[in-house]
Amino acid sequence: MRIDKLLANSGFGSRKEVKKLLKSGQVKADGEVVKDPKTHVDPDSQEVTVQDAIVEYREFIYLVMNKPAGLLSATEDLSQETVVDILEPEDAMLEPFPVGRLDKDTEGLLLITNDGQLAHQLLSPKKHVPKTYFAEIAGCVTEEDIEAFKKGVTLDDDYLTKPAVLNILESDSTSKIELTITEGKFHQVKRMFEAVGKKVTYLKRLSMGPLTLDEDLEPGEYRELDEEEVEELRNAQALSID
Ligand code: URA
Repeated sequence: MRIDKLLANSGFGSRKEVKKLLKSGQVKADGEVVKDPKTHVDPDSQEVTVQDAIVEYREFIYLVMNKPAGLLSATEDLSQETVVDILEPEDAMLEPFPVGRLDKDTEGLLLITNDGQLAHQLLSPKKHVPKTYFAEIAGCVTEEDIEAFKKGVTLDDDYLTKPAVLNILESDSTSKIELTITEGKFHQVKRMFEAVGKKVTYLKRLSMGPLTLDEDLEPGEYRELDEEEVEELRNAQALSID
């Protein structure tokens, strides 16, 4: 990778600031002064130093956020605040992005990473990585809804959803439920309830594959995943609901 990117990603300032640093002759790769920002270095096999101190390069970042309502699941937006806007600068500088989208008014588990391969794998429709949501529903959710969701319901664009597991926690004039789906169509949970004549009034994602939302993570807070959790995500298995 380019040495200016490596330095910028390691906290040595913007590309412009890094260019100045390089020009000053304080940066070395394997003991040789490097001044050209376009110089390619291999962080795995080469030692990069700034003022003779070794630069510890970290390529990937894996964060789990309890997304608050009101933020967009995007990296940037001209007029609205995004989940990346609330990251600490040392995390944001690694240019992570949200894996999939939660609606602006949806809360809960959101994985944010710069590992494109893992993101692709988790979002692949072939993988069927299960996602569980808690929702409050205006209306009484019934056994018939459980059966309908198990068979699949037809959305407003005629798409027939894959089998999903609906668990009723409370049902009255308003209901509380948990729903596990294995796909990620646009507004899927809301549209599945619309398909059975009901409205989602509150939605929160509780889990994605092996990753579960920490109870002590307040909306807007996030933490880094440990290596074991990242490995588990890499091995996330498809859930088969029949
Ligand atoms: N389904 C929805 O309707 N909205 C979300 O944010 C996630 C799943």
